[in-house]
Amino acid sequence: MTTVPRKAALTPEVIQLDAPSLSQLVDEIAADGHGLVMLMGKGGVGKTTLAAAVAVQLAHRGLSVHLTTSDPAAHLVETLHGTLEHLTVSRIDPHEVTERYRAQVLESKGATLDAQGRALLEEDLRSPCTEEIAVFQAFSRVIREAGKKFVVMDTAPTGHTLLLLDATGAYHRDIARQMEGANLHFTTPMMQLQDPTQTKVLLVTLAETTPVLEAANLQADLRRAGIEPWAWIINNSVAAASLTAPVTSPLLRQRAHNELREIESVATRHARRYALVPLLQDEPVGVDRLLQLAANGAT
Ligand SMILES: Nc1ncnc2c1ncn2[C@@H]1O[C@H](COP(=O)(O)OP(=O)(O)O)[C@@H](O)[C@H]1O
Ligand SMILES: [Mg+2]
Repeated sequence: MTTVPRKAALTPEVIQLDAPSLSQLVDEIAADGHGLVMLMGKGGVGKTTLAAAVAVQLAHRGLSVHLTTSDPAAHLVETLHGTLEHLTVSRIDPHEVTERYRAQVLESKGATLDAQGRALLEEDLRSPCTEEIAVFQAFSRVIREAGKKFVVMDTAPTGHTLLLLDATGAYHRDIARQMEGANLHFTTPMMQLQDPTQTKVLLVTLAETTPVLEAANLQADLRRAGIEPWAWIINNSVAAASLTAPVTSPLLRQRAHNELREIESVATRHARRYALVPLLQDEPVGVDRLLQLAANGAT
Protein backbone atom coordinates (compact mmCIF):
# COMPACT_ATOMS: atom_id res chain seq x y z
CA MET A 1 0.00 0.00 0.00
CA THR A 2 2.78 2.39 0.83
CA THR A 3 6.14 2.95 -0.80
CA VAL A 4 7.60 5.03 1.99
CA PRO A 5 10.98 3.52 2.97
CA ARG A 6 10.01 3.10 6.59
CA LYS A 7 13.10 1.22 7.62
CA ALA A 8 15.40 3.92 6.34
CA ALA A 9 13.37 6.61 8.08
CA LEU A 10 13.56 4.81 11.39
CA THR A 11 17.26 4.03 11.27
CA PRO A 12 19.09 7.26 10.47
CA GLU A 13 22.67 7.15 9.35
CA VAL A 14 25.49 6.89 11.86
CA ILE A 15 25.64 9.86 14.24
CA GLN A 16 28.47 12.26 13.55
CA LEU A 17 29.18 14.54 16.43
CA ASP A 18 32.04 16.73 17.49
CA ALA A 19 30.79 18.53 20.56
CA PRO A 20 32.89 19.70 23.53
CA SER A 21 32.73 17.53 26.66
CA LEU A 22 32.11 18.64 30.23
CA SER A 23 35.73 17.88 30.94
CA GLN A 24 36.79 20.52 28.42
CA LEU A 25 34.59 23.11 30.12
CA VAL A 26 36.01 22.15 33.50
CA ASP A 27 39.54 22.61 32.14
CA GLU A 28 38.69 26.22 31.36
CA ILE A 29 37.04 26.77 34.74
CA ALA A 30 40.01 25.19 36.51
CA ALA A 31 42.44 27.54 34.79
CA ASP A 32 41.08 30.47 36.86
CA GLY A 33 42.13 28.83 40.13
CA HIS A 34 39.02 29.97 42.03
CA GLY A 35 35.54 31.40 41.55
CA LEU A 36 31.81 30.85 41.87
CA VAL A 37 30.16 28.37 39.51
CA MET A 38 26.34 28.42 39.48
CA LEU A 39 24.18 25.77 37.82
CA MET A 40 20.82 27.07 36.63
CA GLY A 41 17.87 25.66 34.71
CA LYS A 42 14.45 24.06 34.99
CA GLY A 43 13.69 21.33 37.49
CA GLY A 44 14.79 17.85 36.48
CA VAL A 45 17.31 18.82 33.78
CA GLY A 46 20.26 17.74 35.92
CA LYS A 47 21.47 20.79 37.84
CA THR A 48 22.23 18.92 41.05
CA THR A 49 23.93 16.08 39.19
CA LEU A 50 26.06 18.41 37.09
CA ALA A 51 26.95 20.65 40.04
CA ALA A 52 28.29 17.54 41.75
CA ALA A 53 30.03 16.43 38.55
CA VAL A 54 31.77 19.80 38.10
CA ALA A 55 32.80 19.84 41.76
CA VAL A 56 34.16 16.30 41.61
CA GLN A 57 36.12 17.07 38.45
CA LEU A 58 37.67 20.19 39.94
CA ALA A 59 38.59 18.32 43.11
CA HIS A 60 40.00 15.54 40.96
CA ARG A 61 42.41 18.09 39.48
CA GLY A 62 43.65 18.83 43.02
CA LEU A 63 41.72 22.09 43.42
CA SER A 64 39.85 23.08 46.58
CA VAL A 65 36.11 23.00 46.05
CA HIS A 66 33.07 23.72 48.15
CA LEU A 67 29.86 22.21 46.72
CA THR A 68 26.72 23.71 48.16
CA THR A 69 23.04 23.14 47.49
CA SER A 70 19.64 24.29 48.68
CA ASP A 71 17.98 21.32 47.00
CA PRO A 72 15.93 19.40 49.57
CA ALA A 73 16.57 16.17 47.62
CA ALA A 74 20.26 16.24 48.46
CA HIS A 75 21.01 12.54 48.02
CA LEU A 76 24.10 13.38 45.97
CA VAL A 77 25.51 15.40 48.79
CA GLU A 78 25.28 12.37 51.01
CA THR A 79 26.85 10.17 48.36
CA LEU A 80 29.76 12.53 47.97
CA HIS A 81 30.28 13.46 51.57
CA GLY A 82 33.84 12.83 52.65
CA THR A 83 34.58 10.65 49.67
CA LEU A 84 37.00 12.94 47.88
CA GLU A 85 40.03 14.93 48.89
CA HIS A 86 39.79 18.73 48.33
CA LEU A 87 35.98 18.59 48.29
CA THR A 88 33.71 19.93 51.01
CA VAL A 89 29.95 19.72 50.79
CA SER A 90 27.30 21.75 52.54
CA ARG A 91 23.55 21.95 52.39
CA ILE A 92 21.46 24.99 53.06
CA ASP A 93 18.12 24.06 54.55
CA PRO A 94 15.72 26.74 53.22
CA HIS A 95 13.26 26.19 56.07
CA GLU A 96 15.92 26.46 58.74
CA VAL A 97 17.62 29.60 57.36
CA THR A 98 14.23 31.27 56.78
CA GLU A 99 13.17 30.69 60.37
CA ARG A 100 16.46 32.09 61.59
CA TYR A 101 16.15 35.12 59.27
CA ARG A 102 12.58 35.82 60.44
CA ALA A 103 13.59 35.68 64.07
CA GLN A 104 16.53 37.98 63.39
CA VAL A 105 14.46 40.61 61.61
CA LEU A 106 11.70 40.52 64.23
CA GLU A 107 14.30 40.96 66.95
CA SER A 108 16.12 43.86 65.26
CA LYS A 109 13.54 45.75 63.17
CA GLY A 110 10.62 44.62 65.29
CA ALA A 111 12.08 45.87 68.56
CA THR A 112 11.15 49.50 67.93
CA LEU A 113 7.68 48.83 66.49
CA ASP A 114 4.28 48.96 68.17
CA ALA A 115 1.90 46.00 68.06
CA GLN A 116 0.40 47.03 64.71
CA GLY A 117 3.83 47.61 63.16
CA ARG A 118 4.99 44.25 64.36
CA ALA A 119 1.92 42.57 62.89
CA LEU A 120 2.68 44.19 59.50
CA LEU A 121 6.29 43.14 59.67
CA GLU A 122 5.29 39.58 60.52
CA GLU A 123 2.97 39.52 57.53
CA ASP A 124 5.76 40.85 55.33
CA LEU A 125 8.03 38.09 56.52
CA ARG A 126 5.50 35.45 55.51
CA SER A 127 5.92 36.35 51.79
CA PRO A 128 7.75 33.80 49.60
CA CYS A 129 10.46 36.42 48.99
CA THR A 130 11.59 36.04 52.57
CA GLU A 131 12.79 32.53 51.91
CA GLU A 132 14.71 33.68 48.85
CA ILE A 133 16.41 36.45 50.77
CA ALA A 134 17.23 34.12 53.64
CA VAL A 135 18.64 31.47 51.31
CA PHE A 136 20.58 34.10 49.46
CA GLN A 137 22.03 35.45 52.70
CA ALA A 138 23.18 31.96 53.50
CA PHE A 139 24.62 31.64 50.00
CA SER A 140 26.37 35.02 50.30
CA ARG A 141 28.45 33.69 53.13
CA VAL A 142 29.55 30.87 50.85
CA ILE A 143 30.08 33.20 47.88
CA ARG A 144 32.72 35.08 49.86
CA GLU A 145 34.78 31.91 49.91
CA ALA A 146 34.90 31.96 46.11
CA GLY A 147 37.64 34.58 46.25
CA LYS A 148 40.15 31.93 47.22
CA LYS A 149 38.71 28.57 46.18
CA PHE A 150 36.01 27.16 43.94
CA VAL A 151 32.43 27.30 45.10
CA VAL A 152 29.97 25.28 43.04
CA MET A 153 26.37 26.21 43.71
CA ASP A 154 23.39 24.07 42.85
CA THR A 155 20.42 26.42 42.62
CA ALA A 156 16.72 25.74 43.07
CA PRO A 157 14.58 25.54 39.88
CA THR A 158 14.34 28.57 37.59
CA GLY A 159 11.42 30.42 39.16
CA HIS A 160 13.16 30.46 42.50
CA THR A 161 16.42 31.55 40.95
CA LEU A 162 14.76 34.60 39.45
CA LEU A 163 13.14 35.54 42.74
CA LEU A 164 16.54 35.16 44.26
CA LEU A 165 18.02 37.51 41.67
CA ASP A 166 15.24 40.00 42.39
CA ALA A 167 16.05 39.84 46.06
CA THR A 168 19.71 40.25 45.24
CA GLY A 169 19.01 43.23 42.99
CA ALA A 170 16.80 44.89 45.60
CA TYR A 171 19.47 44.36 48.22
CA HIS A 172 22.08 45.82 45.89
CA ARG A 173 20.00 48.96 45.26
CA ASP A 174 19.40 49.30 48.98
CA ILE A 175 23.10 49.16 49.79
CA ALA A 176 23.97 51.48 46.88
CA ARG A 177 21.45 54.02 48.21
CA GLN A 178 22.84 53.82 51.72
CA MET A 179 26.39 54.18 50.43
CA GLU A 180 25.58 57.15 48.20
CA GLY A 181 27.99 60.00 48.79
CA ALA A 182 29.89 58.03 51.40
CA ASN A 183 32.57 57.27 48.82
CA LEU A 184 33.11 53.84 50.27
CA HIS A 185 34.12 50.77 48.35
CA PHE A 186 31.47 48.07 48.55
CA THR A 187 30.62 44.79 46.85
CA THR A 188 27.14 43.30 46.89
CA PRO A 189 26.40 39.70 45.93
CA MET A 190 24.72 41.07 42.77
CA MET A 191 27.95 42.75 41.69
CA GLN A 192 29.72 39.47 42.26
CA LEU A 193 27.18 37.60 40.13
CA GLN A 194 27.56 40.15 37.32
CA ASP A 195 31.35 39.99 37.32
CA PRO A 196 32.48 37.36 34.80
CA THR A 197 35.89 37.10 36.44
CA GLN A 198 34.20 35.94 39.66
CA THR A 199 31.07 34.08 38.60
CA LYS A 200 30.35 31.58 35.88
CA VAL A 201 26.71 30.70 35.28
CA LEU A 202 26.19 27.34 33.61
CA LEU A 203 22.75 26.94 32.02
CA VAL A 204 21.60 23.34 32.02
CA THR A 205 19.20 22.11 29.35
CA LEU A 206 18.25 19.06 27.28
CA ALA A 207 18.57 18.54 23.53
CA GLU A 208 14.83 19.01 22.99
CA THR A 209 12.88 21.94 21.55
CA THR A 210 11.01 23.10 24.64
CA PRO A 211 13.87 22.81 27.15
CA VAL A 212 16.13 24.75 24.77
CA LEU A 213 13.50 27.50 24.48
CA GLU A 214 13.09 27.57 28.23
CA ALA A 215 16.83 27.90 28.73
CA ALA A 216 16.93 30.69 26.14
CA ASN A 217 14.22 32.51 28.10
CA LEU A 218 16.15 32.10 31.31
CA GLN A 219 19.23 33.42 29.55
CA ALA A 220 17.26 36.51 28.46
CA ASP A 221 16.09 37.05 32.05
CA LEU A 222 19.61 36.74 33.35
CA ARG A 223 20.89 39.21 30.77
CA ARG A 224 18.25 41.69 31.87
CA ALA A 225 19.70 41.33 35.37
CA GLY A 226 23.15 42.07 33.93
CA ILE A 227 24.33 38.46 34.18
CA GLU A 228 25.80 36.81 31.10
CA PRO A 229 25.69 33.01 31.23
CA TRP A 230 29.18 31.64 30.70
CA ALA A 231 28.22 28.33 29.09
CA TRP A 232 25.36 25.95 28.35
CA ILE A 233 25.40 22.29 29.28
CA ILE A 234 23.21 19.95 27.25
CA ASN A 235 22.49 17.00 29.50
CA ASN A 236 21.05 13.51 28.94
CA SER A 237 22.19 13.29 25.33
CA VAL A 238 21.46 9.97 23.64
CA ALA A 239 23.48 11.13 20.63
CA ALA A 240 26.55 11.52 22.87
CA ALA A 241 25.87 8.18 24.57
CA SER A 242 25.52 6.45 21.21
CA LEU A 243 29.12 7.28 20.35
CA THR A 244 30.48 4.93 23.01
CA ALA A 245 27.68 2.37 23.27
CA PRO A 246 25.86 1.69 20.01
CA VAL A 247 22.14 2.38 20.22
CA THR A 248 20.04 -0.34 18.62
CA SER A 249 16.49 0.61 19.53
CA PRO A 250 14.92 2.49 16.58
CA LEU A 251 13.21 4.86 19.00
CA LEU A 252 16.46 5.85 20.67
CA ARG A 253 18.21 6.16 17.33
CA GLN A 254 15.51 8.53 16.20
CA ARG A 255 15.84 10.51 19.41
CA ALA A 256 19.61 10.72 18.98
CA HIS A 257 19.08 11.97 15.47
CA ASN A 258 16.52 14.59 16.54
CA GLU A 259 18.95 15.87 19.17
CA LEU A 260 21.41 16.97 16.50
CA ARG A 261 19.28 19.92 15.42
CA GLU A 262 18.91 21.16 19.00
CA ILE A 263 22.62 20.74 19.71
CA GLU A 264 23.36 22.72 16.58
CA SER A 265 21.00 25.49 17.62
CA VAL A 266 22.57 25.77 21.09
CA ALA A 267 26.07 25.74 19.59
CA THR A 268 25.44 28.33 16.91
CA ARG A 269 22.61 30.51 18.19
CA HIS A 270 22.35 30.47 21.95
CA ALA A 271 25.55 29.68 23.76
CA ARG A 272 28.95 31.36 23.90
CA ARG A 273 30.38 27.98 24.76
CA TYR A 274 28.75 24.67 25.58
CA ALA A 275 29.30 21.07 26.57
CA LEU A 276 27.41 17.90 25.74
CA VAL A 277 26.83 15.32 28.49
CA PRO A 278 25.73 11.77 27.67
CA LEU A 279 22.69 10.06 29.11
CA LEU A 280 24.09 7.38 31.42
CA GLN A 281 22.43 4.01 31.74
CA ASP A 282 22.72 4.05 35.53
CA GLU A 283 21.75 7.00 37.67
CA PRO A 284 24.90 9.13 37.98
CA VAL A 285 25.32 8.89 41.72
CA GLY A 286 28.71 8.58 43.41
CA VAL A 287 32.14 9.86 42.41
CA ASP A 288 32.91 7.24 39.76
CA ARG A 289 29.74 7.71 37.78
CA LEU A 290 29.94 11.48 38.11
CA LEU A 291 33.37 11.33 36.53
CA GLN A 292 31.83 9.37 33.65
CA LEU A 293 29.73 12.41 32.77
CA ALA A 294 32.91 14.28 31.90
CA ALA A 295 33.51 12.51 28.61
CA ASN A 296 30.99 12.44 25.79
CA GLY A 297 32.55 10.08 23.35
CA ALA A 298 33.03 12.80 20.75
CA THR A 299 36.45 13.80 22.00
N1 LIG B 1 23.42 12.43 32.29
C1 LIG B 1 22.53 11.74 33.01
N2 LIG B 1 22.31 10.43 32.75
C2 LIG B 1 21.39 9.73 33.46
N3 LIG B 1 20.64 10.24 34.45
C3 LIG B 1 20.81 11.53 34.77
C4 LIG B 1 21.77 12.35 34.08
N4 LIG B 1 21.71 13.61 34.63
C5 LIG B 1 20.79 13.55 35.61
N5 LIG B 1 20.25 12.32 35.71
C6 LIG B 1 19.19 11.89 36.65
O1 LIG B 1 18.04 12.68 36.39
C7 LIG B 1 17.37 13.01 37.59
C8 LIG B 1 17.25 14.53 37.73
O2 LIG B 1 18.54 15.08 37.89
P1 LIG B 1 18.83 16.24 38.95
O3 LIG B 1 20.31 16.51 38.91
O4 LIG B 1 18.25 15.91 40.29
O5 LIG B 1 18.03 17.45 38.27
P2 LIG B 1 17.70 18.91 38.87
O6 LIG B 1 18.64 19.18 40.00
O7 LIG B 1 17.90 19.85 37.71
O8 LIG B 1 16.26 18.86 39.29
C9 LIG B 1 18.16 12.38 38.71
O9 LIG B 1 17.59 11.15 39.03
C10 LIG B 1 19.54 12.17 38.10
O10 LIG B 1 20.25 11.10 38.68
MG1 LIG C 1 18.24 19.77 41.91
